[in-house]
Amino acid sequence: MKSSAWLGLALLLAAPVAHAQSHVAMTPPMGWNSWNHFACRVTAADVRGAADAIASNGMKEAGYIYVNIDDCWQGTRDAQGKIQANEKFGDIKVLADYVHSRGLKIGIYSSPGPKTCAGYEASYQHEEQDAQTYAAWGIDYLKYDWCSASRVYRPEEMPAVYTKMHDALVKAGRPIVYSLCQYGLDLVWRWGASVGGNLWRTTDDISDRYDRMSVIGFDQDGLEPFAGPGHWNDPDMLEVGNGGMSHDEYVTHMTLWSLLAAPLLAGNDLSKMTTDTLAILTNHEVIAVDQDQKGVQGRRVAQEGPLEVWAKPLADGSFAVGLFNRGQSQNPVVLNFKDIGMSGELHVRDLWLGRDVGTFRDRYEAQVPRHGAALIRVWR
Ligand code: GLA
Repeated sequence: MKSSAWLGLALLLAAPVAHAQSHVAMTPPMGWNSWNHFACRVTAADVRGAADAIASNGMKEAGYIYVNIDDCWQGTRDAQGKIQANEKFGDIKVLADYVHSRGLKIGIYSSPGPKTCAGYEASYQHEEQDAQTYAAWGIDYLKYDWCSASRVYRPEEMPAVYTKMHDALVKAGRPIVYSLCQYGLDLVWRWGASVGGNLWRTTDDISDRYDRMSVIGFDQDGLEPFAGPGHWNDPDMLEVGNGGMSHDEYVTHMTLWSLLAAPLLAGNDLSKMTTDTLAILTNHEVIAVDQDQKGVQGRRVAQEGPLEVWAKPLADGSFAVGLFNRGQSQNPVVLNFKDIGMSGELHVRDLWLGRDVGTFRDRYEAQVPRHGAALIRVWR
């Protein structure tokens, strides 16, 4: 064994159990989740359809890997207590094999309480058994949603309850991304990583409206110290393409989530998507901001009324900068280089346009439409 391999083994053995899954999600997880579009109507055919779309429409190459079933797949437990899928899903192992055959990974959903949010069978008192079942099915990602746990646990038990499933997943022996969903209660960003979470929801549910999406996204400022490789703040899944927002509003959504190093889980019907939606979801230069190896979450660096400037330092020393207009009419939005600790002449590339726009001294200004955004990369 090479010395680097020995070092790796030593570090692995020395790592506290609570971080044993931290080798997954080294960049924010990307993929698709059934909830935002299909909600409880989801079927195995919809999940296969999402996998087929991702594998063939360029999303896989853009980094979308996880195909995640949300609530409403569960049936009853058998005589041994093993969870079964309902008739809409049949055999989850068959579905998992299908998703894997497309070169993708598959996620599933449960709750630490007796029932999920939609009232389906959940993992209360079956944690180890369910973790074993997920591993045997080939599951790669678990979203674990508090829901009815509030009926059987006290709020202060929450970290221990999340640790219990984390330890069960570790014991099951398969790398499984662990997604905590408890809507940001109890400042979860302070303890989510210590209970083994790879990501944790920081807010209540998103919806497909600009007011809701923007309040959630722009409220993330200040949470950046808690995000990093293996452990991410999760401002909820994408609504891009679900029809409730304009093109410019979806551009704002994708720009902001990328600057936030947020998980990028598409939430639309991938089998019926416009070319505009696909283009917003798969812009490689925008995604590269989200997936940057340095893993720093961006933050607000300037604000003037409804005009905001957010910045994210990238691994190569450049900055990604979002110029946002939350107002009702088109406006110029200005990046003053001093707000990102720079001065003098800097190169600017517009990532949505995919072209270098020039060299600028001390400031850069872009016209930004109502509810829209520009995303630039700036370097010396
Ligand atoms: C909660 C979660 C959602 C979704 C639903 C499913 O509301 O926050 O993301 O998983 O439950 O019932």
